[in-house]
Amino acid sequence: MRIADDFSSGLRENVPAHPNVDLIEGDLANAEVAKRAVAGCAFVIHLAAIPSVPRSVQDPIGSHRANVDGTLNLLIAARDAGVKRMIFAGSSAVYGDAPVLPKREDMRPHPLSPYGLQKLIGEQYGQLFTKLYGFETVTTRFFNVFGPRQQPGSPYSGVISLFIEALAAGRGPIVHGDGKQTRDFTFVGDVVTGVLRCCEAPNVAGEVINVAAGGRISLNDLIRTLQRVLKTDAAPTYGPAREGDIKDSQADIQKARKLLDFAPVTSFEDGLAQTVAWFQSQTLRK
Ligand code: UD1
Repeated sequence: MRIADDFSSGLRENVPAHPNVDLIEGDLANAEVAKRAVAGCAFVIHLAAIPSVPRSVQDPIGSHRANVDGTLNLLIAARDAGVKRMIFAGSSAVYGDAPVLPKREDMRPHPLSPYGLQKLIGEQYGQLFTKLYGFETVTTRFFNVFGPRQQPGSPYSGVISLFIEALAAGRGPIVHGDGKQTRDFTFVGDVVTGVLRCCEAPNVAGEVINVAAGGRISLNDLIRTLQRVLKTDAAPTYGPAREGDIKDSQADIQKARKLLDFAPVTSFEDGLAQTVAWFQSQTLRK
């Protein structure tokens, strides 16, 4: 197995030191790095991105380079290297604020941020490569993935990691907006299952598939649950909503059930408990 990462947001210590793991440190927006990354691989799982809506609003060019140029480089490199199939990490951000819930893959996309548009370009490039060159690609549209090892290091980090960090320290979390926005928080283990099924399932080349829990939880409910688990009543501070933010997000996962025989197995509460336990074990280590 080979892992390519520029460690712009992930941590080197998360890459296992194992004789079968070959690590390339570099930026996939560089075509030479992309070529080296895929040489000799049967499958490519393309998760590399600057995965933040507000960062893309601040810096559309930097985020385009990572999310679009990186994807195109990898598609070309993987096609030319004879890779069997490439799985692309798409995003529910492509749906934008279409009023209908849950979101189904055949709804018209309506991105509200450069990030959402870049993920849409990525999946359309994937489909085009399948049609034009016969190179098999599958896009998994992820919905707010969370779990152990997600880093709360920057204001752009995933909301669950930021809220756990704040509440564990007895601080109230900062909520952008009224906290009534909802998300389909999906435990990382279920996402891994969905991605691996995409590598092996028949008849999925060129498909775009929601991979999510299929539920919907508001930030206010998330805070209440965390306050209970972490035994604190530190109150949140409410500020203005973020530009480009989606109000509600929930996946229809029928297509994943049908094509991938996918069903999420970790409940939100269990996933959150595992994430809090991991966070506390890290705090103890420091
Ligand atoms: C997230 C992912 C994105 C993915 C998308 C799929 C992250 C960082 N982003 O975007 O990669 O493609 O889901 O749907 O994982 N919020 C606060 N306070 C904070 C931080 C966030 O109130 O301190 C709010 C945000 O305004 C937003 C919600 O929490 O309403 C979720 O934010 P965030 O975790 O950044 O994720 P998304 O923008 O939904």
